[in-house]
Amino acid sequence: MRLISALALASALMLGGGVAGAQEKVLSERGDVSIEQQSKVDMFRPEKDKETIPRNYDKQPPLIPHSIKGYNINQNFNKCMDCHSAERFKETGATKVGDTHYLDRDGKKHANISPRRYFCMQCHVPQFDAKPLVENTYKPAAKRGQQ
Ligand code: HEC
Ligand code: HEC
Repeated sequence: MRLISALALASALMLGGGVAGAQEKVLSERGDVSIEQQSKVDMFRPEKDKETIPRNYDKQPPLIPHSIKGYNINQNFNKCMDCHSAERFKETGATKVGDTHYLDRDGKKHANISPRRYFCMQCHVPQFDAKPLVENTYKPAAKRGQQ
């Protein structure tokens, strides 16, 4: 019984804390702009398609140098592989996805893209004209910087 009342007291205290917390004004990176308002504004424009972008360090997933508008990836079809697969890259002029993209977690090579690499945008990102939110002094790894 004593345990139960202790729990009841604890949750009452937590609830109380929650109410007090809700009164404080929490500001996000958006400032005072609501998500609804922000999504109406065309904030960032995709950069123009260009040549491949130099990489900053070894094993970096290369940045996507072109628009990906309408390039869908679903259960049945992967638009990216339409150009980037080993079978199609010559025709399309796209960089062939490396062997790593065909390996499963046990290092076994498959004829098709590995499920681990199916959702390209987990690792590869297109470029927008967005300014960095915070200043940074990052420099490419020495060897890569020359590229
Ligand atoms: C219509 C063909 C086509 C489609 C579809 C396509 N790409 Fe590309 N992609 C290219 C071409 C061509 C290049 C090379 C650009 C150049 O060198 O000018 C490229 C370059 C890239 C690169 C840079 C490679 C490097 O070596 O730096 C990445 C990453 C990439 N694409 C990812 C993707 C992803 C992810 C998708 C799907 C969302 C996709 N691409 C869909 C044609 C395509
Ligand atoms: C789990 C992360 C991950 C996913 C998912 C992924 N990639 Fe990659 N990708 C990488 C990394 C890391 C590299 C650089 C090293 C390498 O080639 O493995 C790379 C390299 C590449 C390259 C350049 C290959 C070369 O030889 O220079 C292309 C093109 C590419 N990826 C396209 C794709 C496409 C298209 C998809 C989706 C079908 C995809 N990637 C999914 C991580 C990923």
